[in-house]
Amino acid sequence: MSTATLVTLDLAAALVAAALWASAGALTVRGRSRLAVGLAAGAAVATSGRVATAVALAGRGWWFAQEKLTIGVPLLLVAVVAVALTIRRGGTAAATAMLTAGYAAAVGLALTLLAGYPSGWGVGLVCAAVVGAAALVTRRALAPAPAPGTLRTGVAAVLAVGLAGGALSVALPGAPTDSGGGVADAAPPGGRTVSVDELRGPDTPDPGGAVRRYTLTARRASVTLSSGRTVAAWAFDGRVPGPPLTATVGDLVEITLRNADIGQGVTLHWHGYDVPAVDDGAPGVTQDPVPPGGSYVYRFRAEQAGTYWYHTHQVSDQGVRMGLYGTLVVSPRVPSTVESVDLALPVHTLDGAVILGDRDTAEERRVAPGTPVRLRLVNTDSGPHRFALAGVPYRLAAVDGTDLNRPGELTEATLRLAAGGRYDLAFTMPAGAVALVVDGTAGAGLRLAPDGVPFARTGPEVAGWPEVDLIAYGAPAATPFGSGSRFDRRFTLVLDRGLAVVDRLPAYAYTVDGKAFPSVPTQVVRAGDLVAMTVVNRGFATHPWHLHGHHVLVLSRDGRPAGGSPLWMDTFDVRPGEVWVVAFRADNPGVWMNHCHNLSHAGQGMALHLEYAGVTTPFHGGHGAG
Ligand code: C2O
Ligand code: CU
Repeated sequence: MSTATLVTLDLAAALVAAALWASAGALTVRGRSRLAVGLAAGAAVATSGRVATAVALAGRGWWFAQEKLTIGVPLLLVAVVAVALTIRRGGTAAATAMLTAGYAAAVGLALTLLAGYPSGWGVGLVCAAVVGAAALVTRRALAPAPAPGTLRTGVAAVLAVGLAGGALSVALPGAPTDSGGGVADAAPPGGRTVSVDELRGPDTPDPGGAVRRYTLTARRASVTLSSGRTVAAWAFDGRVPGPPLTATVGDLVEITLRNADIGQGVTLHWHGYDVPAVDDGAPGVTQDPVPPGGSYVYRFRAEQAGTYWYHTHQVSDQGVRMGLYGTLVVSPRVPSTVESVDLALPVHTLDGAVILGDRDTAEERRVAPGTPVRLRLVNTDSGPHRFALAGVPYRLAAVDGTDLNRPGELTEATLRLAAGGRYDLAFTMPAGAVALVVDGTAGAGLRLAPDGVPFARTGPEVAGWPEVDLIAYGAPAATPFGSGSRFDRRFTLVLDRGLAVVDRLPAYAYTVDGKAFPSVPTQVVRAGDLVAMTVVNRGFATHPWHLHGHHVLVLSRDGRPAGGSPLWMDTFDVRPGEVWVVAFRADNPGVWMNHCHNLSHAGQGMALHLEYAGVTTPFHGGHGAG
């Protein structure tokens, strides 16, 4: 059974237990004890169900079960013991016990949904106090004249436990940093601190390279799509996507960003490109947002070939959605094969319309048989997209800009691309028609055919094609480190929803380890460290995880070691119940965002910083998380 199913069953068991215990108690009050005993038996089964699911979840990882096994289940079991002791006697005592079991089950459910992992002593005591208080009120209501002494002691006990719990939760806010088991002190090895804005790259191209200069101006625009529909957008140079940027390895890329009229400000983040810290475009971390009328220059040497993209990072949920993004494609210095059809195809949802490239209807192109073709798919949305290529066997040549080792031939397959991720598809044009289908629909897509051959009308029939599992695709090859390496730091990020403070207000936030940005502890590393990062999804939404400034090597998913081509990613989809273990070398000093690339999740708390010891930032107050 999948972990996600277990999580759902566990919540269902808690809910059913709460309802049945409460009903059994209510019927006992009404004197209908036969029916009450029947419901109590059902409630006992649901309670055992909750215990069983919690234990099974612990087998999938302590993160999935901690608050259940240390708080929720014990509270429930105490109440159930009280039921067992009173049920023969019936009457008020039994009714109170059953209702209390109902409260305990409900509190356990609320605990899982609102606090989650990790829940400490403070939360546990508050839960106990809530159940105790509800039990007292029930007792008082059912038996109007209990001995006054007992009642007073009960109230005093509940108050004391509740206050202690509250005080503990407030007084133990958790450390502001997480050293991942490494050296905790933040001082750099040499003792000197450096500011992110000093962390610049070279300002000349490699010998033989060129200087590529671009200027991008962000402004409000209205964009007419291929269907004829006009939408209000925010655009670079009046286009959505923004102008495609290209370079060759060794070039110096210099981009001047201007903001004409985007009130909240803009920045440029080079998604997946491991630029020097000062060029990362993270507002409040590496720069201030560029205000209307302002400008900023980004300069980095193109050192990685492949498919990347750029986007604003200031209130990025809104800014990217509105259209402030484009592609960055870097060609190798010595091209391996010259693809004469080489297309960068970002997929985006603009005001409800899915667009591939800049079109919301299928694009048709004539391509001669035998032509090498490369399609560079870029997901610029906040959720995954599914692609299928019909009419030709092909290879998934690269993921997130990095070539795969010996990628196998694919036919009748579905490729699920994480938000923020990129796939390069390569094939030789056949004599027949080829269709790239997005999300199994006949809307935006690409149709290729040689002269005289009709274009394919492929659509929904590709929807059932099986999904390619990347961790088993391609052939293994040597990697600079792996599961057996000795890691200097190990971090764990548990993703969920819960009550947390976002933008100074309490919210039902998207959380990391129970906290929301900027309260999630900063991960501290030293330059040169080998770092392992475990990312756990306890919730019901998919979280495309994205670390700035580094590529991570996937080590395992749900305990299954990565067995295909080495998989270097910058954005990987952690689906509900999944546990990913990835690793990277800390080789790019700076302060980096580490966040969910569902940008609305990031804006609602699911973000943190990765900081190199001794690197400081003078920027604050931007909207770095989202
Ligand atoms: Cu593409 Cu911080 O993001
Ligand atoms: Cu998310």
